[in-house]
Amino acid sequence: MKNQRILLVDDMPSIHEDFRKVLLPDTSSSELDAAEAMLFGTTASLSAPSFVLDSAYQGQEALALLTRAQEAGAPYALAFVDMRMPPGWDGIETIERLWAQDPQLQVVVCTAYSDHSWTEILERLDARDRLLILKKPFDPIEVRQLASALTEKWHLVQQAARHTEQLERTVQERTRDLEAANTALHAEIRERKQLEAQLVQTEKMSALGQLVAGIAHEINNPVGFVMSNLGTLQRYTESLLRLIDAYKAAEPGLASPAVSADLATQRKAVDLDYLAEDIPVLLRESLDGTVRIRQIVQDLKDFSRAESTQDWTDADLHQGIDSTINIAAAEIKYTADVVKDYGPLPLVQCLPAQINQVVMNLVVNAAHAMGPKRGTLTIRTGAGDAEAWFEVADTGKGIPSHMLHRIFDPFFTTKPVGQGTGLGLSISYGIVKRHHGRIDVRSEIDQGTTFRVTLPIRQPQEAATPEAA
Ligand SMILES: Nc1ncnc2c1ncn2[C@@H]1O[C@H](COP(=O)(O)OP(=O)(O)OP(=O)(O)O)[C@@H](O)[C@H]1O
Ligand SMILES: [Mg+2]
Repeated sequence: MKNQRILLVDDMPSIHEDFRKVLLPDTSSSELDAAEAMLFGTTASLSAPSFVLDSAYQGQEALALLTRAQEAGAPYALAFVDMRMPPGWDGIETIERLWAQDPQLQVVVCTAYSDHSWTEILERLDARDRLLILKKPFDPIEVRQLASALTEKWHLVQQAARHTEQLERTVQERTRDLEAANTALHAEIRERKQLEAQLVQTEKMSALGQLVAGIAHEINNPVGFVMSNLGTLQRYTESLLRLIDAYKAAEPGLASPAVSADLATQRKAVDLDYLAEDIPVLLRESLDGTVRIRQIVQDLKDFSRAESTQDWTDADLHQGIDSTINIAAAEIKYTADVVKDYGPLPLVQCLPAQINQVVMNLVVNAAHAMGPKRGTLTIRTGAGDAEAWFEVADTGKGIPSHMLHRIFDPFFTTKPVGQGTGLGLSISYGIVKRHHGRIDVRSEIDQGTTFRVTLPIRQPQEAATPEAA
């Protein structure tokens, strides 16, 4: 439906009469048309566009009509405004006010003579794309043409605006779609990088695991017989020392004083008293040493066995954590003391090798975070009904809050080239996610950082199948 609504603003009633004649269809014939349309179902005659003409005799009245029309959602397309309308606003002021209310309104200035020069009028009404001039006396065809052309123009302008708006919306929608696709792509790339990194790391660790298992096995044998020999030696030396004591006691009874004196000299020379004291100590220390070697080898075996089997197992997390910490001892022992604060834990269904890897990454990061002062690395554990958790807390330098959201990104590192690849946390994140768990971080600058890993005690049904591993 086109907007054919026209407002005529003129103080002379006769002008309104003239306009009505020119613009409104002959009522009698239009009634006939309507009757015809009802009877035969044809549309009313198209020859004359049927304008709607409202009359105002003063500027204020025109503004009131225009405002009301707007509020009713039926604005005017066009206004014919007379230049001279005493008293009250003249044409220019009326037009200014109408435009202030409705900038879309097309306007025709009607005049025979003017109190203003045209230059002045056009200067004040600086909207020449919406303004035409019609000089009195009017020619009916001019009026009619102006009405047709300008209502059509109003319509086209509206349409163009709607199209532009639609176009902008479409562009916005497309932009949003593109942005979403872009974000999805980035997420996918990130995930892929993470998976690749994890694969590389897993392969590396499993190769390392086999190597370590081999070495541990090789060390185990000699350590075994060294230990058993040391035990035997301990017993032998005890016996020997007892025997020497007996000889010593028998010395005064020797027939030859020369032999007795020689023995006393030799005893002094080898400092027998000191030897008798020191030999058991040395043996005990050596035995302690071998016991420790055996423990380390055992840890290595535990750790590497976990590394080389990649199966879902009900595992004792404490055991995994202990052996991992022993393996990482070299990284930790110069920078921090380890405190274990273990709660009761059920067996947790997991891929133990991978969980060990998470512990390793967190523990090494914690050790690296310590400042020049010796710190504390606390491992806590605990469990709820369906979840078990462990925490690695350090008293290190902390993570600035603006970095917190990036630490799990692959290759994000603040460590110098060669010291960190920035993969530790991203790999850990991937592993924990595969376990349907989560990692939470709390950190405070210069106070320390706590990473908490929470794992479900049982995996969802289909997750823990061999293929999923
Ligand atoms: N406990 C922590 N305290 C302070 N900063 C940490 C801690 N853990 C991680 N970060 C920060 O997060 C970054 C990323 O850690 P991530 O373990 O992923 O990589 P990395 O340790 O730098 O290198 P990589 O582990 O591959 O050798 C670290 O470089 C460090 O800036
Ligand atoms: Mg790391």
